[in-house]
Amino acid sequence: MEISTTLTTTPVPDETLTGILAAPGFGTHFTDHMFTVEWTPDGGWHDARVTPYGPLTLDPATAVLHYAQEIFEGMKAYRHDDDSIWAFRPEANAERMVRSSRRLALPVLDPESFVQAVEALVSVDARWVPENAGEKSLYVRPFMIATEKFLGVRPSQHVTFMVIASPAGAYFSKGPLPVSLWLSTQYTRAGQGGMGAAKTGGNYASSLVAQQEATAHGCDQVVFLDGQELTYVEELGGMNMYFVYADGHIVTPELGTILEGITRSSILELAGKLGHPVEERKISIDEWREGVTSGEITEVFACGTAAVVTPVGSLKWQGGETPEVTEAGEVTMKIRRALVDIQYGRADDTFGWMRRIC
Ligand SMILES: Cc1ncc(COP(=O)(O)O)c(C=O)c1O
Repeated sequence: MEISTTLTTTPVPDETLTGILAAPGFGTHFTDHMFTVEWTPDGGWHDARVTPYGPLTLDPATAVLHYAQEIFEGMKAYRHDDDSIWAFRPEANAERMVRSSRRLALPVLDPESFVQAVEALVSVDARWVPENAGEKSLYVRPFMIATEKFLGVRPSQHVTFMVIASPAGAYFSKGPLPVSLWLSTQYTRAGQGGMGAAKTGGNYASSLVAQQEATAHGCDQVVFLDGQELTYVEELGGMNMYFVYADGHIVTPELGTILEGITRSSILELAGKLGHPVEERKISIDEWREGVTSGEITEVFACGTAAVVTPVGSLKWQGGETPEVTEAGEVTMKIRRALVDIQYGRADDTFGWMRRIC
């Protein structure tokens, strides 16, 4: 893919950037540039460009605004001690976007072009990648939207793929603290044949009311059960789940209606090497509740790009809760450390997961 570059004439001044990178928060500051490429049935993907970051002008009849034909990705770029900048498994995000695009009837952007787009933007905005102290990173958000001006319900004949980036602070300022989860029994996230495995905005829109319910019950996050039997654990609003058993093996819910997290996949490979055989299978909510009460399940954690690995402290539901755990478990922390050390270049990348950007 040929990419043209037009640099901004008004970059964020160094002094302002230093202030932003000292405490970036999450998703509030955006880098100086953005990447765009457009698709039409006749022209294919064309006009790839890096341009100054700025608002889009969309006709009010633009398809995505009405029927939510859109998909996105979330990944990070990390600065290593020698100032080089690396992405973690960008090809895996690219391949997941291909799967999402098939489900949403969007055109496929080949994984090579996806990675090239990410690299083009991160290279131009390299000064926005924070130093690695405190697990800071540059969050990268590729997304694809239906940009045809048309109100009929059919796949859009004009599609736009973009990449934007935003510096991100440490998810946990004082180390990973266990989170509390609310079990949603009124709302589900996905059904058989639905969009659960795709990374598409509608899944997140539908999770918001359940997340509000979690907050109202004093919990940090919501956990969803399967849409058919309300029996099997699926995932959180934005993270996959893992259960550590007393004999050291770990279990994660099988794929199908959940998002195939890149962190989840990485832990599948990593945990075995750390001496914890992994099973992907159905796990019922009763197995969870009874397991943590009896001691058969010794640790529960969630995982995703944003927080890497997050210990689960408690599960609450209408009328009950599991015993509260106040400290991150040993296996949880071992897996977390192993992953973070690879991402920040402090451990050998024996899996070949890191890709140097610049
Ligand atoms: C619904 C959902 N599940 C799981 C994940 C974890 O995926 P990943 O590890 O690729 O960030 C995410 C985060 O993107 C998510 O939104």
